[in-house]
Amino acid sequence: MANMIPYSRMTPHERELEYQEVRAEYELLKERGLKLNMARGKPGKEQLDMVSGIFERMLTPEEYLSDGEDVRNYGELAGLPAARRLFADILGCKPEQVFVGGNASLQLMYDTITKAFTHGLLHSERPWHKEGMLRWLCPAPGYDRHFRITADFGFEMINIPMTPTGPDMDIIEEAVKDPSVKGIWCVPKYSNPDGIIYSEETIHRLADLKPAAPDFLIMWDNAYVVHEFDGEYIPFPDMLSICQQHGHPDMVIEFASTSKITLPGAGVSCFACSEDNMSYLKRLLSVQAISFDKVNQQRHVLYLKNKENTLNLMRKHAEILRPKFKCVLDTLEREIAPLDIAEWNRPKGGYFVSLNAMPGTARRTLKLCRNAGVTMTPAGATFPYGLDPNDSNIRIAPSFPPLDELQQAGEVFCTCLKLAALKQLRSGPLPGRQNILPRSSEENKYKRNAPDFNKASGFTAPKEQKNY
Ligand SMILES: Cc1ncc(COP(=O)(O)O)c(C=O)c1O
Repeated sequence: MANMIPYSRMTPHERELEYQEVRAEYELLKERGLKLNMARGKPGKEQLDMVSGIFERMLTPEEYLSDGEDVRNYGELAGLPAARRLFADILGCKPEQVFVGGNASLQLMYDTITKAFTHGLLHSERPWHKEGMLRWLCPAPGYDRHFRITADFGFEMINIPMTPTGPDMDIIEEAVKDPSVKGIWCVPKYSNPDGIIYSEETIHRLADLKPAAPDFLIMWDNAYVVHEFDGEYIPFPDMLSICQQHGHPDMVIEFASTSKITLPGAGVSCFACSEDNMSYLKRLLSVQAISFDKVNQQRHVLYLKNKENTLNLMRKHAEILRPKFKCVLDTLEREIAPLDIAEWNRPKGGYFVSLNAMPGTARRTLKLCRNAGVTMTPAGATFPYGLDPNDSNIRIAPSFPPLDELQQAGEVFCTCLKLAALKQLRSGPLPGRQNILPRSSEENKYKRNAPDFNKASGFTAPKEQKNY
């Protein structure tokens, strides 16, 4: 690249030359006929091979016993006591607050919302299906599958901007005064996709919320609680006891799983909650199941043993993941940083890099990627209804492809980012710096409009969700 100066500082003529050069580069990349995927946060093969020693457990009759009980038989709806102890150790709560379920925490989350609709939660005045309009707070960018659940149940989803310390608490404190606001999605450690760790202040303000709805629920999805890939494990406070301290022990249900510790889709999930919530939910769950897969729970207990051993395993995952994240971040630093057309986070854990491209260019960038054989998470997916108001946020998932593929995919992605930015600059006025990273300047706009932001921006839920 001849000119590594910000595009906004180039003359129109220089930009035109740059455009021709990047266009030619893009055509060459297209000719490679690539077929690469940076779309979903899946562990790579090397990680899966590394944990497949889990299948060497459960080979002797003694290994079918846990605390004297045969794990192969019915019983223990809330999970093997040993599995409850393991998750309590990892999450920092009490074993009796843990319910160990099946293979996916997402299913437990979906099930929780379903139960609120069919039966109501512990403090509900009526089942949610008997209520009128329901609203849900969605820190965004966020996890697309969370948004799909609340979209599916017909909530009006309210965008809550993320800040470097977690979701914007000023807006949340205002929004919960509305009794139709029933809950919030939270990924408190290494949020998906921003990789943000909620600050102590944010956590305490969440626990101290005074919602108008008596059954307001914090869905505390601690999916990345032990998932550092760069640097030491960062201990994280137990939200259950913090909510208890603030006098709201039943306002939170926490979720976690071993999907990215052992095997996604073949791991073990759990939820954790107050003892009162536990008795209530266990009663409902006892109608739907006699017990979950305790054989898999036992396999995990024998393999993971305790938090310390789990953290040792996570250090091995980190060895594999760190170079992949470094590869993506180094490419962005080299190719994009000097041009000032995007900004991105530099996470130390989790599974994603979240990038904000020049507003109005995310869709175009990803279409260019697709046409050059690189699949990425669709633009907009990190926002409720798949609608990013700035068409800016792009989620990069570096975990799955091998390093050499990642290198190529990174190159294609950067070329597409440049091309989309140059096209945008060709057709519109020069963006000032405020247009480049929308987050901080846009926050004020969100603040003014929240919680009516969705209405103000004309959001409507599409009939059918596409692209997921
Ligand atoms: C924030 C978050 N929660 C939950 C999940 C899925 O977890 P599980 O496999 O336990 O359903 C993911 C997977 O990417 C995730 O990013």
